[in-house]
Amino acid sequence: MMNANKNSKWSKTSWRNFPIQQQPVWPDTALRDKVLKKIARLPSLVFAGESRSLKELLAEASEGKAFVLQAGDCAEDFNRCHGPLIHNLLKVILQMSIILTYAGEKKVVKIGRIAGQYAKPRSSPTESIGDRVIPSYRGDMVNSPEPTLRARTPDPQRMLEGYFRATATLNLVRAFTNGGYAALDYAHSWSEASFNAFPKNPKYEELVKGIKKAINFMDAIGIDSDSPQLNQVTLYTSHEALLLEYEEALTRIDTTTGYWYDTSANMLWIGDRTRQPDGAHVEFLRGVCNPIGLKVGPDHKIDEIKRIVEKLNPDNEPGRLSLITRFGAEKVNIFLPPLLRAMKSEGFKIVWICDAMHGNTYTIRNEQKTRKYNDIVKEITNFWQIHQAEGTTAGGVHLELTGENVTECIGGHRQLLDKDLNLNYQTHCDPRLNAEQSVELAFELAGILKP
Ligand code: PEP
Ligand code: CO
Repeated sequence: MMNANKNSKWSKTSWRNFPIQQQPVWPDTALRDKVLKKIARLPSLVFAGESRSLKELLAEASEGKAFVLQAGDCAEDFNRCHGPLIHNLLKVILQMSIILTYAGEKKVVKIGRIAGQYAKPRSSPTESIGDRVIPSYRGDMVNSPEPTLRARTPDPQRMLEGYFRATATLNLVRAFTNGGYAALDYAHSWSEASFNAFPKNPKYEELVKGIKKAINFMDAIGIDSDSPQLNQVTLYTSHEALLLEYEEALTRIDTTTGYWYDTSANMLWIGDRTRQPDGAHVEFLRGVCNPIGLKVGPDHKIDEIKRIVEKLNPDNEPGRLSLITRFGAEKVNIFLPPLLRAMKSEGFKIVWICDAMHGNTYTIRNEQKTRKYNDIVKEITNFWQIHQAEGTTAGGVHLELTGENVTECIGGHRQLLDKDLNLNYQTHCDPRLNAEQSVELAFELAGILKP
């Protein structure tokens, strides 16, 4: 039995001896333990071999040979575990990836925030509703968003429900991605239907023409559209490894290699609020062999990040560790260059991913969280330029988006304004790009990625 840190003591329960942040207080611990036991007996959600393939692809991204598109909801919610919604999210991710593959002339590594993104860190453990104080909503795997004490009381059964909903989601994702739905034939009809929805923008038109031409060319020379390469894609899964009890229950030894893997998803990340170098989350994830992400916001110390990187990736294995920075459109200029230099001078092999969402969130009228499409584009543009200037490699983007026509982020070619947010604001957590804004962003990224 091997962990990812071969020379130091680790077990899947060792995190329990470290200080831990952002955990729910379960009212019934006997019930919690019963649920965790059940989950520990249930089958793995993913196969360790898939997580190893993802790590190899991420290693390519760290050298600029592939591009990472990590995207999905801020928080999946149990009610949205529904076929057409999953289908629409998948469709938008695949559309984006076709645009990006064509423009960047390299592989696009698709990773969903999907099939397990059910637990959320919060800025405050409680919330005041009128004169009452109730626990904050911590994601559907913990409690329910309605502002009542009953709904907000953590219920451990939700972890089991989350496991099954993740399974159902993943089952449909696998059916779509392996069963021909991702075929380029479909891409062709999508490009007709949705790329044409954009107003005449010569930048986009030229790309669409090129993509259509490439597809027609393959048709014309008789490349068999039944071949697996044209019919199958892989969408890897990821979520924030926040509820360590749940993650522990799904952590198993891979019988092929004898190494420990967290089988709840292919990739797990540590949030900006739970990355204490001597905390439980770093302790847990340092031992599993999955590819790991680490969110880094403006509130960090470079020495701290160095320590965490050494703990999470002591062998400096490429693809093992992604630093997902989330500084904001302006602050990226201040915080990214010194971080890149420090990591470079240590010789750390890192996949650099730009989370262009979490540093650009603000609240309007004291009620709705939103983000500006233009800030998102700006953070990504700045991120790319800084990497170029520093001689480091930008590996990809991390986005919160949905396949639905929601009105949560401001801007895009329809020029959504803050007064439009009420039209279809659905998220219980962070605001997401809608399907059109997402595809538009892919067109914008295409310009940045041009080889
Ligand atoms: C998130 O990704 O939804 C999130 C909470 O991010 P961060 O940890 O970067 O704040
Ligand atoms: Co979020």
